Amino acid sequence: MSDYFHYRGNQLYAEQVSLTDIAARFGTPCYVYSRAALTESFRQFTQALQGHEHLICYAVKANSSLAVLNVFARLGAGFDIVSGGELQRVLAAGGDARKVVFSGVGKSAAEMHLALDAGILCFNVESAAELECLNDVAGNMSKVAPLSLRVNPDVDAKTHPYISTGLKQSKFGVAYGEAVALYRRARDLPHLRIVGVDCHIGSQLTEVGPFIAAAEKILALVDTLASEGIRLEHIDLGGGLGIRYREETPPAIADYVAALLRALRGRGEKLILEPGRALVGNAGVLLTLVEYLKYGEEKNFAIIDAAMNDLMRPTLYDAYHEILPVRREPSPQSSPASGRGGEREMQSLIYEIVGPVCETGDFLGHARNLAIAPQSLLAVLSAGAYGMSMSSNYNTRPRAAEVMVDGDAVYPVRERETVAQLYAGEKLLP
Ligand code: LLP
Repeated sequence: MSDYFHYRGNQLYAEQVSLTDIAARFGTPCYVYSRAALTESFRQFTQALQGHEHLICYAVKANSSLAVLNVFARLGAGFDIVSGGELQRVLAAGGDARKVVFSGVGKSAAEMHLALDAGILCFNVESAAELECLNDVAGNMSKVAPLSLRVNPDVDAKTHPYISTGLKQSKFGVAYGEAVALYRRARDLPHLRIVGVDCHIGSQLTEVGPFIAAAEKILALVDTLASEGIRLEHIDLGGGLGIRYREETPPAIADYVAALLRALRGRGEKLILEPGRALVGNAGVLLTLVEYLKYGEEKNFAIIDAAMNDLMRPTLYDAYHEILPVRREPSPQSSPASGRGGEREMQSLIYEIVGPVCETGDFLGHARNLAIAPQSLLAVLSAGAYGMSMSSNYNTRPRAAEVMVDGDAVYPVRERETVAQLYAGEKLLP
């Protein structure tokens, strides 16, 4: 648990605000973010990068809520986007287009147009075909598009296969062996300007080794390009630094950055990083209410009001998120009221934590030992990254509300969706 979500007595707080109060004011399910936690993780990156020219481009996909983007924009962050939609969010949140890098294997001509119009820092081009398309789009607009090639260093990130991106068989990036030829091609195209190189090998990495292996290969490529007179302004080493969900021991941000800087050995190119999860993952929790308890022959179920549509990671990756009661049961010794009928004692039992969605895969946690009753509140931890941004409306469930805590203040930053909004664009047959 991050320092910004903590028990005070037996009550779980976000910064100075009790989660019970938040649930009473804003309802559940509700994502709760800590502004201080967001700020602190960003500060750790900038502090570690001090003395080396750098840009931290927050990976918008991890959490694209405007308030989150706005917090980072105010801190001077750049942004890594993967769609025109994300670009529009960044601009709506006060982000600076000149600090935006655009990744993704399938950028459409319309998205390229939008990004060129906005004046982004760089397109991270992922294929030969995309290179030609970008040159055409820029030409039609009488512009020159700044680009990096996203190079696939063929390094095993040693993470979940669904979130490994740097292996040969992955759809991402251009093959390492083809990179030099593609850079030559880019140099010869009239509406392109080479500015950098980019790689991203996967997400939720818990060791520094694969990052360094990828960096070494990228640096060797940078040297080869320099020998051909292709000089780069920046080196983008991607995102991917993991966080602690349970027992993982990812490197601290400072140690990860220090290792990257050592690998750079004092080179002058600007270093760009595209962290997502490491900036937001532990800065958010999903607050949810226990609707029913159901006792089965083999398993007990705690049926909560959040579901796989709100937080897809457990279903999709079998990911573990810690789940804590918002109100801890006082231990018998410490509670004079317990046993006297003043406070109802709750027995702790092992529960499957499941949602209302009609899928067997709709669970947020397996076999959790909790002392809870109907109407108890639970907090699903480490839900700041790839929680809300991957949520859906499956089962016609309006998406959760979001709030941002800042010290002792709470700001609603996204209203709970209404069902009417969900089908507003739909039509009956004539
Ligand atoms: N840059 C690029 C090009 C990426 O593809 C990604 C993530 C990032 C940066 C940020 O990576 P991070 O620092 O957050 O690891 N939905 C999955 C994670 C998918 C990550 C995809 N790419 C999950 O919930 O674990």
